Amino acid sequence: MHFHEREIDLVIDEATLQSKVRELGLQITRDYAGRELTLVGVLKGSIFFLSDLARAIDLPVRLELMGVSSYLDGNETSGEVRITHDVSAPMGGRHLLLVEDIVDTGLTMQFLLDNLKARQPASLKVCVLLEKPARTKCKVTIDYRGFVIEDRFVVGYGLDFAEKYRNLPFVGVMRSE
Ligand code: IMP
Ligand code: MG
Repeated sequence: MHFHEREIDLVIDEATLQSKVRELGLQITRDYAGRELTLVGVLKGSIFFLSDLARAIDLPVRLELMGVSSYLDGNETSGEVRITHDVSAPMGGRHLLLVEDIVDTGLTMQFLLDNLKARQPASLKVCVLLEKPARTKCKVTIDYRGFVIEDRFVVGYGLDFAEKYRNLPFVGVMRSE
């Protein structure tokens, strides 16, 4: 028995995640055919999804990373976000696909979209692995979506609880004892 099996219940298994990522990769490959795409991953939660997705896209792809830290209002993001890591090149004129682990309230995503839009990219779209529509405060258009999930706190495949469980190859929930 692995250590996490005492603590985590499965929500989306590894095979289901990987087949969804391949499906998203195919769709993105078709939609961006003939163009150069820049994937902008959001640290740290998107890194496993980003690396699998990038390898499922059959196009010339550039990778960029943005790091953000949310100011909390209670246990929820206030929507005011601080940039802790910025992209390494100008984003003007590029086709950008923002890659994020989860859209919960949507406030982080809205901040990132406003920030990237101001740099005048050629296009700007959104790809998220998980969406929790029950908690949406700020409706952002999601162009590529992995899974819609219930309002439960999930971990794994990049998502953490107090920085733990990011390296699980599946998505799960903390078992409530
Ligand atoms: P927002 O509420 O949409 O702004 O989401 C802010 C951030 O909270 C996301 O980018 C995630 O890093 C984190 N987050 C939201 N829901 C979950 C969850 O269920 N598990 C782990 N992290 C989450
Ligand atoms: Mg995140």
